[in-house]
Amino acid sequence: MGLKINKDKQNIAAMFNSIAGSYDLLNHLLSFGIDKSWRAFLIKRIKLLKPATALDIACGTGDITIAMMKQGIDVTGLDIADKMLEKAVAKSKKAYYGLTGKGKGASSSMPKYICAPADNIPLPDNSFDVVTIGFGIRNFDNRGESLLEIKRVLKPGGTLFILEFATPKNRVWRGVFNTYFLKVLPYIGKVISGDNSAYSYLPSSVGTFPQYGEFMEELEHFGFKNPTYKQLTGGVAVMYSAQKSHNT
Ligand SMILES: C[S@@+](CC[C@H](N)C(=O)[O-])C[C@H]1O[C@@H](n2cnc3c(N)ncnc32)[C@H](O)[C@@H]1O
Repeated sequence: MGLKINKDKQNIAAMFNSIAGSYDLLNHLLSFGIDKSWRAFLIKRIKLLKPATALDIACGTGDITIAMMKQGIDVTGLDIADKMLEKAVAKSKKAYYGLTGKGKGASSSMPKYICAPADNIPLPDNSFDVVTIGFGIRNFDNRGESLLEIKRVLKPGGTLFILEFATPKNRVWRGVFNTYFLKVLPYIGKVISGDNSAYSYLPSSVGTFPQYGEFMEELEHFGFKNPTYKQLTGGVAVMYSAQKSHNT
């Protein structure tokens, strides 16, 4: 794991810009397609809340943003990597005109995209029913400030959902998973993306992120209420949720 983690925004944006072309393919390939079920689980939970507005932070190539658009949610995607956003815009147009072409897009509008960091969101207070972050928060250079910004833009009573990788709690499953995650995945990622470090950075960054109860404490520390977490695929990924108080 010995990779030095540099979460400087310029460095992170450059890394994701360099892999933007192969990001989706590698996501699905390296997770054996299971990443789609993690995002689908998130969308199912979001649907229960019937939100009108959502902000997808660290939206990358837009999979979560687009899935929310398909639910008729007025959604904004935000990311620091412009090449990832270019992919998101192209995919959103295709998905949107696909929907409207089938006469199904009446309640949907095209997502809006903003190139900006999570710790300085250029949007007004109390704007969104839901904020999502899919596999992005472990990369943030300024996590505390980002959580405060998210709280600011959420409406009172609004919900933050976070998907993030974790280390499985079960010893045997953790052993199997770690062999793949630490050895096989970085190699395949490097060969396909052509980027030497991005897929070694992935397991290193997961190793430094607070997990499970520790992260729920952090959410509470930054003023979120009712934190919960749900392990996915035996704890390879986790979905966290927490609310902004109604009395803020
Ligand atoms: C692993 S990708 C996740 C993309 C997408 N959410 C998904 O589920 O596939 C992480 C994204 O986080 C973005 N990111 C990293 N640090 C950020 C920050 N401080 N503010 C906004 N976006 C950031 C990166 O540019 C990258 O597109």
